[in-house]
Amino acid sequence: MASSNGEEKKQSEAGRHQEVGHKSLLQSDALYQYILETSVYPREPEPMKELREITAKHPWNIMTTSADEGQFLNMLLKLINAKNTMEIGVYTGYSLLATALALPDDGKILAMDVNRENYELGRPTLEKAGVAHKVDFREGPALPLLDELVKDEKNHGSFDFIFVDADKDNYLNYHERLLQLVKVGGVIGYDNTLWNGSVVAPDDAPLRKYVMYYREFVLKLNKALAVDPRIEICMLPVGDGITLCRRIK
Ligand SMILES: C[S@@+](CC[C@H](N)C(=O)[O-])C[C@H]1O[C@@H](n2cnc3c(N)ncnc32)[C@H](O)[C@@H]1O
Repeated sequence: MASSNGEEKKQSEAGRHQEVGHKSLLQSDALYQYILETSVYPREPEPMKELREITAKHPWNIMTTSADEGQFLNMLLKLINAKNTMEIGVYTGYSLLATALALPDDGKILAMDVNRENYELGRPTLEKAGVAHKVDFREGPALPLLDELVKDEKNHGSFDFIFVDADKDNYLNYHERLLQLVKVGGVIGYDNTLWNGSVVAPDDAPLRKYVMYYREFVLKLNKALAVDPRIEICMLPVGDGITLCRRIK
């Protein structure tokens, strides 16, 4: 796409090293808006739209999964015929609803979050959509819950898809456990692996404190995933970056 140097510079400055202005790493707001308006919003199921609007009014709305990423997850789950899934990090449940709508009627989502209140905010949209019966919500930190699951051998290799969107400082701890729980050929999706573009920010970039803090963990995760022989990976610049890991052994 043709654009003047000045405009390019302005766009790149606006897109880099800032807090999330919109939920995309695309350097052009107009292009992102085009994607949303042309392909995402017109096809967004009504309950997801409703939940997105409820979440937009919540003070922590920056945490929600973007509509384009929700659409991506929904499509991916259908492509891989996922039935038994897990989600770590629910918030108000936008990605949860995108997942629940993609699964067959007897599909399951084991959903974990330390905060039940935010989940309850989105729960009525799950009910309205007729998919609440697929969700098994567990309140609490994910790591001990995963340890419990790993203890029981019948859970090994039982998940088709696992979406991880919670505390970045634990992603590598989750990874070791999740690799036992996901089936060979199944997929783990790690969210925020481009962490607001901060993975390529210079050390003196004016990053927000929390972005700076988690950046080290995201960098470490990305390095570890890149050399892990137990998985194939694909890092996509959707949302804040999502790395898909397909278990191969
Ligand atoms: C980025 S939000 C999740 C967004 C969600 N996937 C969506 O579509 O809106 C991260 C969530 O992780 C939860 N969380 C943070 N630490 C956690 C932990 N140790 N175990 C489980 N959940 C945690 C937070 O309460 C928060 O709701």
